[in-house]
Amino acid sequence: MKEQLEKLKKDALTAIEVLKDGVALENLYNKILGRKNGELTELMKSIKDLSLEAKKIIGPLANDLKNEIEELFKQKREKLWQDNFQSGLEKERIDITQPALPKITRGSYHPNTIVQRELEELFVSMGFTVVDGPELESDYYNFEALNIPVTHPARDSHDTFYIKNHLNWLMRTHTSPVQVRALQKYGAPLRIIAPGRCFRNEATDACHEHTFYQLEGLVVDKNISIANLIDVMKKLLSGVFKKEVEVRMRPGFFPFVEPGFELDMKCLVCKGDGCGACKHGGWIEVLPCGLVHPKVIQAGGLDPKIYSGFAFGLGMTRLVMQKFGIGDIRVLQSGKINQ
Ligand code: PHE
Repeated sequence: MKEQLEKLKKDALTAIEVLKDGVALENLYNKILGRKNGELTELMKSIKDLSLEAKKIIGPLANDLKNEIEELFKQKREKLWQDNFQSGLEKERIDITQPALPKITRGSYHPNTIVQRELEELFVSMGFTVVDGPELESDYYNFEALNIPVTHPARDSHDTFYIKNHLNWLMRTHTSPVQVRALQKYGAPLRIIAPGRCFRNEATDACHEHTFYQLEGLVVDKNISIANLIDVMKKLLSGVFKKEVEVRMRPGFFPFVEPGFELDMKCLVCKGDGCGACKHGGWIEVLPCGLVHPKVIQAGGLDPKIYSGFAFGLGMTRLVMQKFGIGDIRVLQSGKINQ
């Protein structure tokens, strides 16, 4: 029995020594000291069968060995825990001298979207409805219904992209076709804006682009006059520039308005004295507008003797460029960043 105890002690010591992880340690503990079938536990159970003298010698020996092994397990447990903790710390170590990762910069809305949303909000607050029209438009709505027949010279400045073998279809050159579409669909009284993409066959440069954005406005009701037009235009401009603006009207020709105007705004930089921003004229040309031509009201399905209205066409792309200080129209649609 004594030899058995000694052998057990020797085996246990080497086994505990080489152990590397907690699970194996607890398995070994069970193998030696487990309540059921533990090697030392079994040995100790058999002490009761020994002679009285033998019991006196083996009993304390076995007890000491049990205590010794328990102690060894305890120490090993602590050591393993320490080691794990240390390596955990090592893994989590932060190198504060490491250079920072490049900052992730978030995208933002396209300048066009920002301006369009601002304008939509402004007009909705004045009781306008935002409507949409097709970009692929018929010759009828883009020209004919707007009092621009096939032979009209106004078509020259509206050259655009046609659909092969379908010359009645074209990429709309302005948002004005929405005027007639909206009148036909909703009738009067009507207060709408129609922001959207337009196309022209342009030789592109810093100020010309084949694709650009306009915002059309149309009000049709009984007794609409130029006074209403001027009032809404002033509200529009002071909303955009966030201050009171002074306007003036010059005659302008567009076949679908009568009378037609070019609306100018007193230069906000020099307050009318003349400076670089207004090419020393004191006024800046901002938008074409006018009273809706009777033929357009008629094309919209209404009687021009009863109804009248005004319309305007805001060059949204031009406004975006002014607002964001963009010197070249082409960057608005190019994929090149950092320009
Ligand atoms: N549609 C015209 C253009 O693109 C602008 C305009 C709109 C003029 C409404 C008058 C009234 O040139």
